[in-house]
Amino acid sequence: MVMGEVKLKERLQGCIRGEVLIGEPLSYHTYFRIGGPAEVMAYPAGLEDLKTLLKVARDEAIPVLILGGGSNMLVLDGGVKGLVINLSRTFLELSVAGEQIRCGAGVRTSRLLALSARASLTGLEGLTGVPGSVGGAIRGNAVTPLGTIADHLDWVRMVDCSGEERFMLRDELGVAYRHSELPTGTVIVKAAFALRRGVAAEIRGTISKLLIRRNLTQPVEVRSAGCIFKNPPRDFAGRLVEQAGLKGLRRGGAQISGKHGNFILNLGGATAADVLWLAERARAEVMAKTGVALELEIQVVGSPIAG
Ligand code: EPU
Repeated sequence: MVMGEVKLKERLQGCIRGEVLIGEPLSYHTYFRIGGPAEVMAYPAGLEDLKTLLKVARDEAIPVLILGGGSNMLVLDGGVKGLVINLSRTFLELSVAGEQIRCGAGVRTSRLLALSARASLTGLEGLTGVPGSVGGAIRGNAVTPLGTIADHLDWVRMVDCSGEERFMLRDELGVAYRHSELPTGTVIVKAAFALRRGVAAEIRGTISKLLIRRNLTQPVEVRSAGCIFKNPPRDFAGRLVEQAGLKGLRRGGAQISGKHGNFILNLGGATAADVLWLAERARAEVMAKTGVALELEIQVVGSPIAG
């Protein structure tokens, strides 16, 4: 890093209102409960703080990692160099405007879903049980049993690395399976969903059914990062891992779920190295047995060893 972490913390603390921490363990901030420390972590208190953080990082050539809900991420054991911007305390506004819901990027997907049910607006039921923040779900175009989050998106507002605000309509986002083409370095701060008027009891009924199905088919009771691999075209990663006979395989504190082959669990004390070992074993065996190349779906960040 260009600046030492203490100097960077002082510099940032002097120009933003939010909190700045040194060496914060990222295991506290990921669903997996795995990951080494962030060299410096900052919580922007609002839009101006976020713009300032992005501008300072750009001017000082400091690498930036944006942390949303931490649900789809594996942080390596050596931690993350540079600046981690933690959005979990920011952009939490949520409002209904006719048949549209406007939502800050830091809002949990579960809160967005609950509001849609209360407001009798239908369309987002597929988000049932999808963990993490709305910003992260849009960036990775979260897959649900009823489609993807982008199906009901109207627009998104972002900030780019020079601190400029940008606005994009859904059709400009280039969404594909588990992917969106947001301009590099931009951070989503707000989004609007275009929904339809529905019946609250029916919306709640759909949510209950999906929750039951998810609880039956996925290991929701144990720490994980959701699905590890993307589904290959016309097949399912979970089915292929099962067919390779790898369900239940353990390495250290990590295990390929016996319930769903596309989940790796943290049974307690798992390291990122344990998880990656299991993922690589699954990838290699599925390739050897079927010729299908599984691709990681989770975002892997940081360094494998400290220093
Ligand atoms: N299957 C197996 N063995 C397994 C797991 C699954 O044979 O161990 C079979 C199932 O029987 C089913 C098929 O594979 O026929 C698909 O399984 P499932 O319905 O569980 O869905 P999936 O394709 O594995 C996708 C998303 C999930 C999302 C569910 C919602 C991907 C990679 N995964 O899973 O997303 O929750 O659909 O139905 O697209 C995530 O975002 O982290 C995630 C888990």
